[in-house]
Order: sequence, then structure tokens, then C-alpha cells
Amino acid sequence: MRISSLILLAAAIACTPKLGKSPVEKVVANMTSEEKVRTVVGTFNDVATPPPVAPGVNNRADYPGSGENTARTYNQVPGAAGDGYPVERLGIPAIVYADGPAGLRIDPRREGDEKTYFCTAFPSATLLSSTWDPALVEKVGAAIGDEVLRYGVDVLLAPGMNLQRNPLTGRNFEYYSEDPLLSGLTSAAYVAGVQSQGVGTSVKHFAANNQELYRNGINEIISERALRELYLRGFEIVVKKAQPWTVMSSYNKINGTYASENKWLLTDVLRDEWGYEGFVMTDWFGADDPVLQMEAGNDLLMPGTPNQIDELNEALASGRLSEEVLDRNVANILRVMEKTPRVKGYAYKNDPDLAAHAVVSREAAREGMVLLHNNGALPLASSGKVALFGNYSYDTQPGGSGSGYVNRAYKVTLDMGLEAAGYTLDASLAEAYRSHIAAEKAKMPEEYFWVVPTASEYKVSASEIAASAGADLAIVTLGRMSGEGGDRTAEEGDYLLSAQEKQLVKRVSEAFHRQGKPVVVVLNIGAPVSLDQLDRWADAVLLAWLPGQEAGHAITDILSGVVSPSGKLPVTLASRYEDVPSARNFGVSEGEINTVRYAEDLMVGYRYFTSAGVKPKYPFGFGLSYTSFAYDDFRIEGGELVLTVTNTGSVAGREAVQFYVEKPALSEGRPVRELCAYTKTDVLAPGASQQVRVALKNVVNPLEQWADGAWILARGTYRFWAAASSEDLRLSAQINVE
Ligand code: GLC
Repeated sequence: MRISSLILLAAAIACTPKLGKSPVEKVVANMTSEEKVRTVVGTFNDVATPPPVAPGVNNRADYPGSGENTARTYNQVPGAAGDGYPVERLGIPAIVYADGPAGLRIDPRREGDEKTYFCTAFPSATLLSSTWDPALVEKVGAAIGDEVLRYGVDVLLAPGMNLQRNPLTGRNFEYYSEDPLLSGLTSAAYVAGVQSQGVGTSVKHFAANNQELYRNGINEIISERALRELYLRGFEIVVKKAQPWTVMSSYNKINGTYASENKWLLTDVLRDEWGYEGFVMTDWFGADDPVLQMEAGNDLLMPGTPNQIDELNEALASGRLSEEVLDRNVANILRVMEKTPRVKGYAYKNDPDLAAHAVVSREAAREGMVLLHNNGALPLASSGKVALFGNYSYDTQPGGSGSGYVNRAYKVTLDMGLEAAGYTLDASLAEAYRSHIAAEKAKMPEEYFWVVPTASEYKVSASEIAASAGADLAIVTLGRMSGEGGDRTAEEGDYLLSAQEKQLVKRVSEAFHRQGKPVVVVLNIGAPVSLDQLDRWADAVLLAWLPGQEAGHAITDILSGVVSPSGKLPVTLASRYEDVPSARNFGVSEGEINTVRYAEDLMVGYRYFTSAGVKPKYPFGFGLSYTSFAYDDFRIEGGELVLTVTNTGSVAGREAVQFYVEKPALSEGRPVRELCAYTKTDVLAPGASQQVRVALKNVVNPLEQWADGAWILARGTYRFWAAASSEDLRLSAQINVE
């Protein structure tokens, strides 16, 4: 090649912009239209067109490739959920996106590679919010972010943070709370933790993905007031407080428009009002019209199909899709990409410190367990013989199923945790349960993210119960599994305890109480169940949620008093499903097809129970400790809520303090009081006090209310409560707003 053309070539290469080295605008200006279209569509299965996800289908098969990741074109990290499109000449690599909220989900093994790629299964989201401890949640996020970084992933598809509108939602375990403030601040802590490791997050599913039934097509009719104050508020808080690199739009429609095709949602509110700086991706195979999605501000279509590429190219050629919309979306994506480890050339070595992360998982798990009932049976003596009942004692569940599943190296079940702590188990009972579970599982499919097989409850006999009553105490674990792709039912064995479960607890209770020995019930569940008469038959009830791979150790830490329980409920536990305000409008509203009306409006969870005077079994914010706390000197000073908390018991503990506000109502149907701030004390020794000070305003002003199409700070008197739960109001103070 002649010198002159060599010089020209060198010059051309030299002035070809590179992502991460040149301004994004220059990189976009250098892309062909085809490259731009490819950049806004993921590269999953480029070679084939997965079956379309028909709206209104509500089963797991509606997720193409369910069960395993069908061929991914750029399979750099096997098991990741999807990849971006590379443009080598511009220094744009194929970015890797992987699930999930309770820990990174990638394949644990690879063809011809003897190394394993296990990840740490942390406690589920609902347990994290039950800690009421953003600092701890941030620590969990950092550990997860470290695994994301070291395993070569750029963006983690988490946290899930949809409001828990109804206890039957299949993905509640992946979500935080019925309250938007607790959801938003927990989510912000999680995002800050993950992103502190230099990788991205994707807060999901924006917005109002509050059920799994017909998730791909359901149309939700929601008032703007309920949207603003409940279903969007948590996302507003996390966007303003933690700037997540990406947002994942939800499958469902809101007031007739798919979320991913909703310009009001994705551009007017998310970007223009809240100042969001990242990009928006669809949920997998979400919605219908790629052009509407582009125009709405849904920058990236994941996981991407060849159909979408064809449609966008045609729309560009016909002028239906404008080049500047495409350029805007491409720039949004590249601005995030340039922050990723892959663009920064981070050489990942697949070397996370899983042992250290297991410690974090165990610590977080015990901080989020909620002691619901205790007549003194807990904490247990430091040793003794335990008659251990219930499948979930021996097959304790760390997390839920679906994309939020984690391929962990092991799980510590409760029997293992008790034995490791020095307790001895009734051997014949343990053998009976273990062999029953093993025999049933042998007949079931291998566990993987869509399906976590659980054996039928072992039918323990009256004689086995009688024979076990020589032990010092009995523990019965009741469990529930749930996951993405389906909701639960209000039937026996699901929301309701089964006859067999009730009979088991009753019979064990009779046998052990006859000898003056205690019975403890542990709940290994991802979302509320009816607790029926458990507190009549059991001396203690511990809500362990889905506590991650260290489950057995963490539950035993609490039962044995290594730490005092300090978790509090992030959701109301209703006495009966019928008491739940959305019970008549869940799934589909009566007489409707594919439509659900959020008729309860703002009356979700404790907002309803406290306003309607309906008594729940256990209220939002409730949780017992092994010690007790006094609240003193509550006042409002310089925009801060100030309170002194004193440990008035005999063991050390932490207290999650809540502040509720009663606002002057500007419209009908407003709740009597709402959570406006919270904090958790340090570990207080017996007799010790701590003054807590919490800013009244965080990134939003919780005193505002949505009325007449705007956030309004109404004139009038605002009464504040310092509270131990939404029903345990201790001290009040008030201010007047002119
Ligand atoms: C799933 C889920 C979403 C997940 C994504 C990738 O359908 O709805 O939460 O991140 O697809 O697995």
C-alpha cells in the first residue's frame, strides 16, 4: 500500500472515535444507521426469533428459553440474561446484563471447565427491607456488586421494588414493602451498594408490576394520585437518591398504555421531572411496538429479537422513526456503557471471595427476621435436644424461583444450623423427614431457576410425635415457595395453612405442653400467609422469610440468642385474606378481561388497616425483640425528628424506630397516617440510650400530597408520631405549616 494511503488510513483510524475516549456524541455521529438500530436492541438469540409472548398468557412457558438460556450470540458469561451489541471499530463491546435481586444469577458450571461459578445467595428482598437498616442493605449490595464485577457482568438486573399491593403476588419475595418510602430508601441503599463496585443496576419493574397474572398484557387502571404517591414514589426516591444506571420498564399496561411505550412515564416523569440520567430497557420480550418504545424513551429492547431490528430499520427507512429519537436513545445507552467495567477494560478473573460474602449473607439474614410472638420460650437454652418437625426444617428455602433464583454452592438448612450450634436432634424424626424428602425429590426435576421442587409435607404420625416428646423442645417450620410467572392463591396450603399443617402444630403443641415443654414455629416464606391460631398453639413464632444460603445458621443465631431479633414487618399480616383492601381487585377485577382496577387507591396495607380500623394479625412495622425499649424526648428541631431510645430490658438489642405523619387532607380517601421517616439504633446494651435524629425530608418531601395534578404542601397542622409500629404510637409532636 502506498505511503500516502497508509497515512490516510492511519489518520482515519486515529480520528475514529472510541467509546470511553471520545465524547459520546462523536461516537454516535460515527455510527451507521444499522449500527444504531443494532445498539438499541439486545443480541439474545440473534440467530432465531423466539416465540412471541402473547399478552394474557400467564404461565412459565410464556418466557421463551425458559429452563435454560437458549443460544446467546455473545455468550461471554454463560447464564447471564442478555447482552448488548458490539461495534468493535468504535470501541463498543457487547455489554453483559444478568439477574438478580438476591444475588448474581449465572450458570454455575461451564462446558469443559472444571472451575465452578457459584454466587452467594443473599436473603430475599423482603427480608432486607425487614431490617429497616439501609447501611446493612448497602453492605449486601456492595457484596453482590463485587460478584457482578469479578464474574464479568456489567449491569445487574436488580433491585425489584414494586409495591406489595397484595399478599398473593408471586414475586413479593423479590420486592420490599407495601410502603413506598421503605421501598425507595431500601432500594436506594441497595443500588448505592452495588454501584459502589463500578457496575450498574436496573431498578425494576417500572412501573406497577404488582401481579404475575397476565403480566404481559394486563391493563391496570390506577388513579394518578395512587400512581404518584404509591406506585411511582419508590422509584422517584431511588432515582433521585442513587441514580441507578438503568431502569427496567414493566410488562404491564397502565391506564391503557404499555409501560415501555409510555412517554408520560419514561420521559415526562422519569427524565423531565425526576432528572433521571441513565437509560431504560424493556423487561424481556416486553410489549409490542418497538417504534412506540423508542419514542416513549425506552432506549433498549431486551433481550432483543431479529423482528425488532427489522421493524426498526423499516420504520427508519419510512420515516416513522426519526433519526434524532434513535440518536437520543443510542446516546443514553452509550453514556452508561462508558462507565462499565467492560468499556474500561477491567480484566475480570472470576475470583469473588464467596466465604466473606457468606458472612455478610448470614449477618443480613438474622437482622431481617421478625419475631412475631414469644411468651418467653425464646431465646433457647444454649444446648439441648430438639424435636424438629416440618419439611422446611430439613429443606429450608433460601430464596424464591424465577429470574430471582441464585445458583449457590450450598444451602444451610435449619437442621444443619441447629447441629452446628451444638443442639442435638431427635434422630428418628430427622431420619424420617430426610428420607421422605430425598425420596420425593428423586422423582422431581433438577432444581433450576424456574422450578424449585418441594416435597409434599411428610405425614408425621401421632406415635412419632409422642415418641419425640422426650426432647427439651419442639420446633416446627412451615414454608411457602413462590416465584415469577405466577401468583399464589388464597386457598389452603397457600395463603391459608393446610389442615395438615394446622394439625401438626396442634398435635406437637399438645404433646409438648403436656410436659411443660415449649414449641417454636418458624416461617420460611416469601410473602404473608394466614397465621390462623399459631400464636395459641406455639410459644414463639419467628418469621424467617427466605433468608439466603446461610438460612440455618441465621435462624439458629436468633433462636439461641446470639443476637436479639430486630427485624420489623415491611408488610401487614392480615388476619384474613378478605381483609386485604385489594382482595376484590387482584388478578382481574370482577367482570373484566385482562383489566384490574386499583379501586382501593391509596388504601394499601397499613394505610387501609389504620384508617378503616381493621385489626391485622400483625401490623406493618411490628417486630419483637428479646429486650424492650422506651421512647423519650420526641421533638421536631431544625427540620429533624429527634428522639431518645433506651434499652429497658436485660439483653442488648437494636430498635427500628418509625415516624408517621398525619397530614391535613386536601382530598377524599386519604390515609389517616403515613410513614415519613425511620431509622435503626445501634446495638444498645441494657440501660443504654441513644438519641436519634432523622431529617424530615429525604430526596422527596414526605409531607406533600398529590392533589389537583401537583405535589402540594397543605397549610395546617401536621401531627407526627414516634412509633414502634404502625399501631404502636408512642410519642407525638406537631408543627403548623402556613
Ligand atoms: C424476567 C423478569 C425480569 C428479569 C428478566 C431477565 O422476565 O421479569 O425481572 O430481570 O426477565 O431475566
